[in-house]
Formats: sequence, C-alpha cells, structure tokens
Amino acid sequence: MYLSIFSDAFRREERAVNRGISAYQHGSAVGRDAYTARRNTHMLEKGLTMRPRRETFGVAYIEETIDVLGRAIGAGVLDSKSAEADWMCAVLDEYFKATAESPSQQIARARAAYGHMRSRWNEIEGINGPHRPTPSATRLDIDDLVELAQGRRSVRWFTADSVSRDVVERALEVGIEAPTACNRQPYRFEIFDDPASVQAVASVPMGTAGYAEQIPGIVVVVGDLSAFFDERDRHLIYIDSCLASMGFILGLESQGVASCCINWPDITERDLQMRDLLNLEDHERVIMLIAYGYADPAGLVPASAKKPIEAARRFRTL
Ligand SMILES: Cc1cc2nc3c(=O)[nH]c(=O)nc-3n(C[C@H](O)[C@H](O)[C@H](O)COP(=O)(O)O)c2cc1C
Repeated sequence: MYLSIFSDAFRREERAVNRGISAYQHGSAVGRDAYTARRNTHMLEKGLTMRPRRETFGVAYIEETIDVLGRAIGAGVLDSKSAEADWMCAVLDEYFKATAESPSQQIARARAAYGHMRSRWNEIEGINGPHRPTPSATRLDIDDLVELAQGRRSVRWFTADSVSRDVVERALEVGIEAPTACNRQPYRFEIFDDPASVQAVASVPMGTAGYAEQIPGIVVVVGDLSAFFDERDRHLIYIDSCLASMGFILGLESQGVASCCINWPDITERDLQMRDLLNLEDHERVIMLIAYGYADPAGLVPASAKKPIEAARRFRTL
C-alpha cells in the first residue's frame, strides 16, 4: 500500500525498463545495435559448440544477425577492426562452413549477404571462434586466489596519492572478462579521478557519509537497459555489472589498490541528482559506486568476518 501510494521507485524502474525497450527498438530500427550483434553471435557460437553439431541451426535469426552486424559496422557502433568484430566474423565464417550442406533458404540468403560484406573487411587477426578449453596456465593457484579474496576488505580511508589510470585499466582488464548474459555486456564504468569530480559524485550517495571528502577515485557503475527487448531481462544489468565489478575490485586489490563498494539505494532525489550529474540516458540505471585508492596505513578497516562456508552452501541430492 505504502509503496504504491507514496513511493515512485517502482514506477521509475518500470519507466527505465520501458525506455530501455524503446531505445533497443530504436537502435535496431536505425542500425545502431551492437547488443543484438553480440547476443546473436553468442547464440551462433553456442550452436557451434553443440554435440553433435547440427547441419542447420540459427535459422530464426541468422539473417537478422548479418543485417545487424553490417549496419552496426556501417553506423560505427562496432569497429570492423576491433577484436570484437574479429570474433563475430570468425564465428560467422565457422557457422557458414558448418551449415554448408544445410537446405535452409534463410541460411543461403544470409551466406550470400555475408560474403558480400565480409570481402570488404580485413582478415581476422585476433580472436577466433569456438575453441577447445584452454586450461588456464596461470601462475595463480587456489591458495593465491583465496589469499587475494581474504586479503580484500572494504577500505574507507585513503592516502592522498592518486591511482594511475594505467592501474585502473589493468583492473578493468579483469572486470570486463566477466560473464554476461548472452555476452551483451550491458554496463559501463564511469570513472572519476580528479578531486572536484570525485567530490561531486561521492557526495551524492548516502553511504559515503564521514569519509567522502578524502576518496581519491570513484567509479559509478551504470547499467544499460537498452540492451534488452523484453522486461524479462530487466535484472541482468545488476547481475552482469556486479560480476564485472568484482573482477575489477580484485584487479585493483592485486595491484595494491583498496576499494569500497557504495550502495545506490533507489531514492528519487538522489537518483535525479546523479542522472543529471552524469548526464545519463533515461534507459540507464546507476547500479552502485566503487571508491578506490591507496589505503591509509593509519586508517582502521572493519574485519567483516564471513559466515562459515557450511552456512553459505548446501550440497543437495533430490
Ligand atoms: C552492494 C554494496 C553496497 C555497499 N554500500 C556501502 C556503503 O554505502 N557505504 C560503505 O561504507 N560501505 C558499503 N559497502 C561495503 C560493505 O559494508 C562491506 O562490503 C561489508 O561490510 C563487508 O566487508 P568487506 O567488504 O570488507 O568484506 C557496500 C558493499 C556492497 C557489496
């Protein structure tokens, strides 16, 4: 009762989801749609990994895929020289090989359209399509990972030293490798590292009270609802961006940079304030913030013990 009468949080969320669907439809209509190119490529690539691999698959969306890809590259929302475009082409090359004997008219038409486009692009340089699992030949073992995870704690007191953008980008290298639903990657990290901007941003959420003034760097994690054509996927911005955030946080931690997640409760005035500050689109939502910097050796850090593993899991048999 209270929420439906006094709070407009649900209505704002609903509006953002609807705006996202409209933005998705508009993007598709005008050919500025990297999300569908990613999702469809992902679905085709998954089809390529199926056992047994079928002679005909992806019929329902292969023509759309070629169309979307061609238009996205034409419109500049995808760079034909990027690793991402390499991946898409590698998957499509493989797909058309795999379906060479298919009687599907849709596949035949898509193959012809693709062949025409493909000849205008350079050879694939970077990423190939589906491949055998590559056991991570890393120097990290589980003990290192556990040590990194256990060593991380939310730090709120920082030195005045700024963190170089190279260090932040290296951490992002970890973050962006996170899984996302259908590989859409519907998030962006808005990063602020100059004192005036950090202060402007850090003063908006409530959770920075008492320590906002000395945060050297801050990230606003933003989710993009224009990645989705249906409300059923409305939660993915939260899931996908948080998976990326954790990678980012551990990437910082491994380079000696501390951080603290900052809550983004859905409060109308603050939401409007932040949207205005960051110039966000109607279909974009703030997910949370991440303060980062070098830990002040004199600042105290809550120990924040974790519940026992047994309480966090149940192995089950039905
Ligand atoms: C989604 C989320 C929101 C959080 N919001 C705040 C916040 O607004 N202010 C703050 O000081 N800490 C915030 N934290 C940090 C938590 O207090 C902290 O993660 C928790 O106490 C566990 O401690 P640890 O991170 O050191 O393991 C947040 C953490 C998460 C994951």
